[in-house]
Amino acid sequence: MRHFIDLKDFDSDRLEAMLASAAEMKSGKDVSQPLAGKYIGMIFEKPSTRTRVSFEVGISQLGGTPVVLSASDLQLGRGESVADTGRVLSRYLDGVMIRALQHETVTELAENADIPVINGLTNLSHPCQIMADLQTIIECHGSLKGAKVCWLGDGNNVANSWIEAAALFGFELRLAGPEAYRPPAALLAWARARGAEIILTEDPVAAAHDASVIATDVWVSMGDDAGSRERDLLPFQVTTALMDKAQPDAIFMHCLPAVRGQEVTAEVIDGPQSVVFDEAENRLHAQKAIMAHILSENF
Ligand code: CP
Ligand code: NVA
Repeated sequence: MRHFIDLKDFDSDRLEAMLASAAEMKSGKDVSQPLAGKYIGMIFEKPSTRTRVSFEVGISQLGGTPVVLSASDLQLGRGESVADTGRVLSRYLDGVMIRALQHETVTELAENADIPVINGLTNLSHPCQIMADLQTIIECHGSLKGAKVCWLGDGNNVANSWIEAAALFGFELRLAGPEAYRPPAALLAWARARGAEIILTEDPVAAAHDASVIATDVWVSMGDDAGSRERDLLPFQVTTALMDKAQPDAIFMHCLPAVRGQEVTAEVIDGPQSVVFDEAENRLHAQKAIMAHILSENF
């Protein structure tokens, strides 16, 4: 079964092919409708703007019919098992995207569904976001080769998917944040065992030095307690002074939604190096490519 749960489930050739398809779709060269006659469910256990709209529009552009489901409206919200939900949805739908509170919900759904399952964000990863971000880097800098990505702040779900991408595509990744906010040790070990160049530091200036990409995300993700996060992560705020440490044509990336004045200043996110709205747009193209590939008969 061809699910799209994490980048590390794929080899880089397959992901590169998806990124090439995404570029063809964006340019208008590929207007095929591989989802014609297909129904794709979208389950949300957490709020969403980009994922919700880009999937719904993307499914329609590919000729399919989106079926949007809020988890609280499903019997899932009243305790029906994820396994039974997967079995039932497989009788109606041709694929399902899910944004889940717990990563295990996505893997359990995939284990029990006879249709492809796509991860639209969990507490542990956000692979669709990083596919859009990789497309954006290629558009801005021509290639992923030689990229030096600097991630600042929380070692969260988006950071985890960056780690997987760095391992698969072989670009350098610097993660700057307090030790207590580091990504899971097992994921770092997996990436390093694959030869990934991942630098962990508590020095934001060293991490940003000569970087081609400066990326960050909210300090309080959905489901997190604010606690002392604002105080702990303040030294890792992306400022103009920090952007100046990076390469002159470095881009600023953020998956959005953002909190101006926390993880990034308004000057940076609204400034000339920011590509955050291109990333948001590329969610549409990247996800169309993902769906076209995993729902293709020839996958
Ligand atoms: N970046 C992202 O996934 O945004 P939404 O939460 O709005 O879907
Ligand atoms: N890390 C953020 C990403 C939102 C798209 C969260 O999980 O809330």
